[in-house]
Amino acid sequence: MSYLPIQQLLKTAPIGTDVTVKGWVRTKRESKNAVFIALNDGSTINNIQIVAEAGQLPEETLKLITTGACLAATGQLVESQGAGQAVELKIAHVQIYGPADPDKYPLQPKRHSLEFLREIAHLRPRTNTFSAILRIRHALAFAVHKYFNDNGFYYLNTPIITASDAEGAGEMFRVTTLDATRPPLTEDGQVDYSQDFFGRETNLTVSGQLEGELGALALGKIYTFGPTFRAENSNTTRHLAEFWMIEPEMAFYELEDNMNLAEDFVKTVIRYALQHCADDLAFLENRLKEEEKTKKKEEQSEMSLLEKLQFVISNEFVRLTYTEAIDILVNSKPARKGQFQYEVSWGVDLQSEHERYLVEKHFKKPVILTNYPREIKAFYMKQDEDGKTVRAMDVLFPGIGEIIGGSQREDDLDKLTARMQEVGIDPETIWWYLDTRRFGSAPHAGFGLGFERLVLFVTGMGNIRDVIPFPRAPKQAEF
Ligand code: 4AD
Ligand code: MG
Repeated sequence: MSYLPIQQLLKTAPIGTDVTVKGWVRTKRESKNAVFIALNDGSTINNIQIVAEAGQLPEETLKLITTGACLAATGQLVESQGAGQAVELKIAHVQIYGPADPDKYPLQPKRHSLEFLREIAHLRPRTNTFSAILRIRHALAFAVHKYFNDNGFYYLNTPIITASDAEGAGEMFRVTTLDATRPPLTEDGQVDYSQDFFGRETNLTVSGQLEGELGALALGKIYTFGPTFRAENSNTTRHLAEFWMIEPEMAFYELEDNMNLAEDFVKTVIRYALQHCADDLAFLENRLKEEEKTKKKEEQSEMSLLEKLQFVISNEFVRLTYTEAIDILVNSKPARKGQFQYEVSWGVDLQSEHERYLVEKHFKKPVILTNYPREIKAFYMKQDEDGKTVRAMDVLFPGIGEIIGGSQREDDLDKLTARMQEVGIDPETIWWYLDTRRFGSAPHAGFGLGFERLVLFVTGMGNIRDVIPFPRAPKQAEF
């Protein structure tokens, strides 16, 4: 008797074979002549239908077969008489592994709201929507590693506990080994945080970039793919306190090479998902179509999920400078009519409403914006000759806004230290970073892709907390 995951079984097992399936009951339906059980084991969005003749299963067993219960069923694979599935399992034997009291089990065979499911994040992977998202997330992660491996990059693991603030933005979670009940005190009675981590002040990393640069200036092309942490108290649908970031860093790349890589990379991983997650994407597309129907006509999206993904991989991203973008925005209808919440002029940091105007209304394509004012970007970006802008690039996506942020890096030691002093970063604190500019410096560039923003785009979901198994955000850190 063979045991196969349902995904393989539906694809490969010939009609007539005896098989065992194991999984969780999605629904049970009883008719006069038969009982139909939809079973799912998480390997695919598709359930297997198990059929028992009326009276075939003992009453006590039947009672335990409820939504959420886990069981193993053995029987013969036969052609299905009903619509909706090609094959079904004619049951010969069933073993209940674990019942799920229907009066207490939080998941019912109906559509629950995403808000409710967020409150039961420990069980939501058992729903169709979340299992589909998690399988797509897995496929995208695999595609990321495959892309870099195929293109000669080395996977570099950068530290999670660090003393540096890579972005210089100060949005860090402190790491401590202090005994909170008896913390060491300074002479004036304050908690002595300089003793945090075995005698050093440390935090959870906001980005692996600085260490990634060390790797690139030794191995040529590297990438990181790890958790990063931001202590920004932002309750938006695009921000998490803990998210996964992919950061490639390449020696001898300039801004243009960096843009080419970012575009090719993001298109390739989306194409991979389209090729390998067809069933799950089709399920999410239908789900979205249902959701769209509840919206007003003018708010309904013009493209379906699959059309949107196809559109992004088959069109060139628009590339323009920040200065050109400001020109467009200043002369746009919403700016003239005062409809932007935040005013826009040269020098301001673009808000998501501005980014989305450019992408969704003006160009109707993904956009790469470059050469931002130095004042609104991080200290490590290479300064342009005009003395005003830096070689930054942000990739903006429809429905998402910024999905990638990157730049060519300042490789001139004097310019870099002067900029650090201007923004108040003591060069001594990252002497090891500056060593790469002291010894064998080279032009180099890189970028960071927020993995959850990519998953958000590919799944068409609306809230970033729904595309990570265990979201960490203000008031959300239980398990
Ligand atoms: O633009 P950011 O802050 O850039 C960096 O951290 C650079 N060190 C990257 C590099 O050049 N190697 O972040 C990069 C990306 C953003 O474009 C966004 O997709 C994502 O990370 N991101 C977040 N995703 C979820 N929640 C948050 N709080 C995020 N902050 C940034
Ligand atoms: Mg950014």
